[in-house]
Amino acid sequence: MATYLVTGGAGFIGSNFVLYMLRRHADARIVNLDALTYAGNLENLASVEGDTRYAFVHADIRDQAAVSAVLAEYDPDYVINFAAESHVDRSIENPGVFADTNVMGTVNLLNCCRAAWDDGEGGFGAHRYLQVGTDEVYGTLAIPEALNPDGSPADPAHTEYFREDTPLSPHSPYSASKTSADLFVKAYHDTYGFPAVITRCSNNYGPYQFPEKLIPLMINNAVHHKALPVYGDGLNVRDWLYVDDHCKAIDMVAREGRLGEVYNVGGHNERANIYIVKTIIAEVARATGDPEVSEALITYVQDRAGHDRRYGMAPDKIREELGWYPETPYEEGIVKTIRWYLDNPAWVANVTSGAYQDYYDRMYAGK
Ligand code: NAD
Ligand code: DAU
Repeated sequence: MATYLVTGGAGFIGSNFVLYMLRRHADARIVNLDALTYAGNLENLASVEGDTRYAFVHADIRDQAAVSAVLAEYDPDYVINFAAESHVDRSIENPGVFADTNVMGTVNLLNCCRAAWDDGEGGFGAHRYLQVGTDEVYGTLAIPEALNPDGSPADPAHTEYFREDTPLSPHSPYSASKTSADLFVKAYHDTYGFPAVITRCSNNYGPYQFPEKLIPLMINNAVHHKALPVYGDGLNVRDWLYVDDHCKAIDMVAREGRLGEVYNVGGHNERANIYIVKTIIAEVARATGDPEVSEALITYVQDRAGHDRRYGMAPDKIREELGWYPETPYEEGIVKTIRWYLDNPAWVANVTSGAYQDYYDRMYAGK
């Protein structure tokens, strides 16, 4: 039985990963360490609460004593670090917490693992650490000259993509903090032989994403006939991957990826933001039959400061070395995702009202 310490497992991708692993591996044991910030929601994991293979620990990755105690108690084979502040707009408002959590939290986690796993002979046994990174560390790509109507490149063979050796060039405080964390992970590998590997993924979408991010925000606003705020000209491009395909990549890289390496994860699903928004409007209108859900809700607003124009991943290395490929086509994934938000209005109402955060504050007060 392999034990995984998952940090940030109550967030969007982390909770999908916990569910994915318990579904896919009968012999996996998961310990979820999460500080339950506004983005952490244990409701995502209600279906596995009673599973004896799953345990939750309320702790902060910056807390040396708490993290060391968890490592001593569970002796995980793998540590998968999802825990982070993840929203670019919030990082522009308040960069400090991104440095604290994403950089100092990662460094603390590395120090705790290093101390716990040290075998006294310069090695770390069979333990492995995976840092969940982002394509944003590479900065931005130019929009190709020839585009399909959805904003994807018309000629992928002659288009530039992010590769693992693309120079790091972060622009937002969020991506600067994620870049810095990646560099610490690499430094611990190169300096101490620490058994770490890094994944860098493109934009995820799917169930349980906090409705501050583009896709769930637009679905929720459309349902409530609220304005759909499109930044700038709406022609920025992101490379969308269904969250389970990201979980599959992390599972494979954690077990089989070469230590010290970076693996890019993405599905060649580039779409312009305005195209995504129009798809959401059409699908919500079709599913609900509500005539007030229409493109009249689209509102162009001031652009995000330092807004990266285009992300596009080349996932060749993970495909060639580990045989990873995305299983959910965008057209299928986006409809499934919209359906999930329409079918779970209570989940959305709960996280947007903040009622669950009040509950956590009461439940964990003084603990
Ligand atoms: P999220 O914001 O939904 O969840 C973050 C989780 O981390 C929450 O459960 C939160 O409570 C927890 N957390 C925050 N600070 C913590 C701390 N100090 N100690 C312990 N737990 C803490 O984020 P997400 O979208 O699920 O992203 C997860 C990871 O994947 C992040 O590292 C992010 O940078 C990376 N990533 C995200 C995407 C994406 O599209 N969402 C793409 C690539 C990489
Ligand atoms: O690329 C991976 C990254 O994807 C992750 O590392 C981040 O954690 C994750 O939040 C995401 O970052 P983005 O900034 O790309 O995601 P967001 O959903 O915030 O925005 C997607 C695009 O949509 C971006 O070009 C900004 C635009 N946008 C976003 C919001 C919230 C709008 O036009 N209107 C909006 O209201």
